[in-house]
Amino acid sequence: MMSLHLAGTYVREVQASLARIRENVLDWEHLSVLHGGSFAACELVDSDADGWRIRLTGQGRAAPQVQKLYLADDTSAYRVVTESGPGAGSEIRVAVTARAPHLSHVVVEYHVPEVDPHKLAAIGKAFVAIYETLWDEDEAMMRAREAALAPRRKAATPALLFLGEEADVRQQLPLAFDFGPGRFRLVDIAGTLAAHSATCPHWLGPLIGAPDAAGVVTCPWHGYRFDVATGCSADGRDLRLAAAPSIRIERGRVVACA
Ligand code: FES
Ligand SMILES: [Fe+2]
Repeated sequence: MMSLHLAGTYVREVQASLARIRENVLDWEHLSVLHGGSFAACELVDSDADGWRIRLTGQGRAAPQVQKLYLADDTSAYRVVTESGPGAGSEIRVAVTARAPHLSHVVVEYHVPEVDPHKLAAIGKAFVAIYETLWDEDEAMMRAREAALAPRRKAATPALLFLGEEADVRQQLPLAFDFGPGRFRLVDIAGTLAAHSATCPHWLGPLIGAPDAAGVVTCPWHGYRFDVATGCSADGRDLRLAAAPSIRIERGRVVACA
């Protein structure tokens, strides 16, 4: 068994509850999407009571790593062990402490099978830089998810909502608007204005990007795709967008209709 040495430590406060952090740690699917700047691909190998085992490919790397998660039942700690591939034998060890209902303290240590102090320092510096970015991205997602899970104000759905003059509205696409209790986006699909739910039906991620040429929007959290015109999953999942108001042009004005 290789002996491990501490290369670097990253410490921060995270504006998220233990529940959100637990969910995020177990959520391997977001790694190559939300953290697409760091990871090019991720697939599940298997999972057990401790957590997942994944095949993860870093950006710019040809070979994947196989990593195994060991998460404590109370979320107070977890380890990610690189079982094979680049960095085999290394371990990320994380301690998590709740500071307040939506504030946690994390201490992230990177232990590697390296003894040279200069190499350890360089590895540790790179690790801290990567983990700062990863936690920034995770914190933004966890805060947005917490807000999305909060009960929304009750609002009656109007029969009609004027969104503005068509020429002005087109300058603002994709345009966000509330219609009754729901949040929607107005987009241009092959020259025709259409509305779609701005909330991903998977984990309530924000569907804020413009659709592609095929009229498909992609969620920035896990990469699920939806056809704007039909609301159906565009990648074969049993999910669909919440019904959106229809859009009409009346005397040059854009109108959302229930
Ligand atoms: S929240 Fe998971 S794909 Fe949208
Ligand atoms: Fe993450």
